[in-house]
Amino acid sequence: MKLTVIGTGYVGLVSGVCFALSGHHVICVDKDEEKIKKLKQMESPIYEPGIEELIELNLREERLSFSADLQDSVRHSDIIILAVGTPSLPNGEADLTYIEGAAAEIAKAMEGHKIIMTKSTVPVGTNEKISKILAKFTHHSFDIVSAPEFLREGSAIRDTLHPDRIVIGLDNPELEPTMRELHKGFTENVFVTDIRSAEMIKYASNAFLATKISFINEIANICEKVGADVTEVAQGMGMDQRIGSSFLQAGIGYGGSCFPKDTNALIQIAGNVDYEFKLLKSVVEVNKGQRFMIISKLHESLGSLRGSTIGIWGLAFKPNTDDVREAPAREIVEALVAEGATVKLYDPIAATNFRQQYDHPQLRWCNLPEEAAEGSDAVCLLTDWSLLKDIDLHQLAKSMRNGVLIDGRNVYSKEQIEGTGLVYHSVGRPQ
Ligand code: UGA
Repeated sequence: MKLTVIGTGYVGLVSGVCFALSGHHVICVDKDEEKIKKLKQMESPIYEPGIEELIELNLREERLSFSADLQDSVRHSDIIILAVGTPSLPNGEADLTYIEGAAAEIAKAMEGHKIIMTKSTVPVGTNEKISKILAKFTHHSFDIVSAPEFLREGSAIRDTLHPDRIVIGLDNPELEPTMRELHKGFTENVFVTDIRSAEMIKYASNAFLATKISFINEIANICEKVGADVTEVAQGMGMDQRIGSSFLQAGIGYGGSCFPKDTNALIQIAGNVDYEFKLLKSVVEVNKGQRFMIISKLHESLGSLRGSTIGIWGLAFKPNTDDVREAPAREIVEALVAEGATVKLYDPIAATNFRQQYDHPQLRWCNLPEEAAEGSDAVCLLTDWSLLKDIDLHQLAKSMRNGVLIDGRNVYSKEQIEGTGLVYHSVGRPQ
């Protein structure tokens, strides 16, 4: 099939590359000409393990191309996939400017029937709006499909090629075979439903996963007070198949470009129909507070932080990405600066992005985790990068001024800490 994917962010680029890999002819379009130029030279605008190799393979086999010309690409395709951003407006609602702009441009380029498939996360009713915009600017026929995306940054290619399920929302049943054909080889688990339900499935899924995280973080906070171990509790809970073991890892809370944005958007979607989503509001509140547990634990060990030196390990919102959007690290570092600490920062790949968004004379940028720890009063682990698991903790304790280690992701075991002399705090586990 001939496809155009509009938007070369995480969702657009990864989908484009994976559809090309499964044999379709794909044009990835972006209005940012600089991005397109780099992509043609096989340079990815996003950090995602394996993506550049797949871009190269697809370009070599001539199934993938890149273009800044949306209208020309649309003319040469049967299916147009919308994968542009839907960032948050100040009130939490999703900003649909890019979606609406792209829909109008698609319509103006149409010279025959097209299928328009939305992969961007959009509030319930948006595909109907897209339909109206298309009808306003073209007299050609079209079909609308909602196909929400469930990939995670850092494992985006695997998630796309081997998803748990594919959700397809449509109102014309005749489209179902085409949609199944398009996704052939990914999974047999294709769930076909109506458009509004498909739009809702995406928000409900992200909101539910965020709820699991805030839930286990509150359990962790209680565990600390009653002397239980949250990792044991999560394991024991997860063995019940009705609960499941994933997304029960306690820590400093969720970040990224999806959970914070989508939970707030769903609260707004509910609010717009006079429904107060009380549970989800609490999930968001709990998440906002959880990151400051790092600061409380520092106070517990060091008292005032004025004049102290604090090392930070990890700035990305999670490992295997350079993405720092809504990363808990930002507010933690800002709080440390406000309290008068010197902060030594290390992240294997996200430091440049972090520094572009926030820099301060009290910050020191480090190339190695050991460098961030040297001479520090405390080190706080904020992102569970796997390389941090192998740090020599005995050496670490010796190199620090005060050997306080705050493990915000429960990376180290009791056995690893024993005998090191470190003052160790983790989340929801006996100290
Ligand atoms: C999330 C969803 O997992 C994807 O299914 C969805 O497609 C995507 O949002 C999206 O809407 O585009 P992502 O934001 O890439 O994916 O990252 P996750 O792996 O879900 O992690 C999100 C945050 O939750 C991270 O900060 C992570 O550290 C935190 N987390 C995750 C926990 O604190 N505990 C856990 O047990 C799991």
